[in-house]
Amino acid sequence: MLIKTRKASDIPSSEITPESVYLNRRHFMAALAGGAVASGMSGNALALVGNPAAEDAGRPKWWRNAVEQRVDGMPNAKDSLTPYSDATRYNNFYEFGTGKTDPSEYAGKFKTDPWQVTIDGEVGKPGTFTLEDILKPHPLEERIYRFRCVEAWSMVVPWVGFSLADLIKRFEPTSKAKYVAFETLYDPEQMPGQSSRFSGIKWPYVEGLRLDEAMNPLTMMVVGLYGRTLPNQNGAPLRLMVPWKYGFKSIKSIVKITLTEKQPPTTWNLLAPGEYGFYSNVNPLVDHPRWSQSRERRLPNSLFDPNWHDTQMFNGYEEEVASLYKGMDLKKFY
Ligand code: MTE
Repeated sequence: MLIKTRKASDIPSSEITPESVYLNRRHFMAALAGGAVASGMSGNALALVGNPAAEDAGRPKWWRNAVEQRVDGMPNAKDSLTPYSDATRYNNFYEFGTGKTDPSEYAGKFKTDPWQVTIDGEVGKPGTFTLEDILKPHPLEERIYRFRCVEAWSMVVPWVGFSLADLIKRFEPTSKAKYVAFETLYDPEQMPGQSSRFSGIKWPYVEGLRLDEAMNPLTMMVVGLYGRTLPNQNGAPLRLMVPWKYGFKSIKSIVKITLTEKQPPTTWNLLAPGEYGFYSNVNPLVDHPRWSQSRERRLPNSLFDPNWHDTQMFNGYEEEVASLYKGMDLKKFY
């Protein structure tokens, strides 16, 4: 992005640690193989690094129960999982700082309960709701998605959530609704990055999708990962996940969802329109003006083992989403 951040290859090997208490054995074994072998750490050492159980324990019971009762969703990426510690310590969340470890270091005390979400604009049933009311009608699914950042690093994460389409339908979009706009909480007292001029971002962070993109079954509202409630640094309590788009579209800590007739403004497009488009579909054929998008460094990685992967069209979700862009010039609508 615009701001200089640590490169993926800067991650010390001590951070290459799997989620050692992850309950699903299939996922745990895969993460263990990826992380423990790469770092050469023993099982006991791994258990000491990070304590997701403690992080999770402070969440409201209804939230923890909902995540616990998740079922397997589709489609599940076959790639091996990124270790939990990478997914939760190598983050972009500029409200808490511009460094990759700032969010995990500074978001610990961020208050996610109580939490309210307003749904308004071109809907028949607008209103402001508690997170519990938002989640209640939606059984949660675990979906393993590839996640590709515009900075050319990537992860494979088991997200827990539900299709945004099901949420939107509940609020009855009008015939004028063509786009969906999202907004992150604005609270500079809790989010120190919002009072810093360094990033150049006009807060709050905003994002948007075309309505048909939002209604695609892959587009997900996320409240958990690796079988646990969503950590603050990953966008608790509620974030978006659009697996065929660059990561910055997947806005965190959402407080407002507005259906609109016109295309809404989006944070990175406002900041650098020539570099970050509204669509931002993962596309190995359209480079960022300052770097290639043909390959990505999959986490975990290191200076000696950058773990390069070829980037796939629509991040590998071409079958599910290519029809949304039929006839569009994807170089022009980047
Ligand atoms: N949402 C908000 N509110 N603020 C941010 O800075 N960063 C985006 C996206 N959502 C961001 C955000 C970017 S650039 C990326 S790559 C992903 O969150 C990172 O998600 P992760 O930290 O869970 O990997």
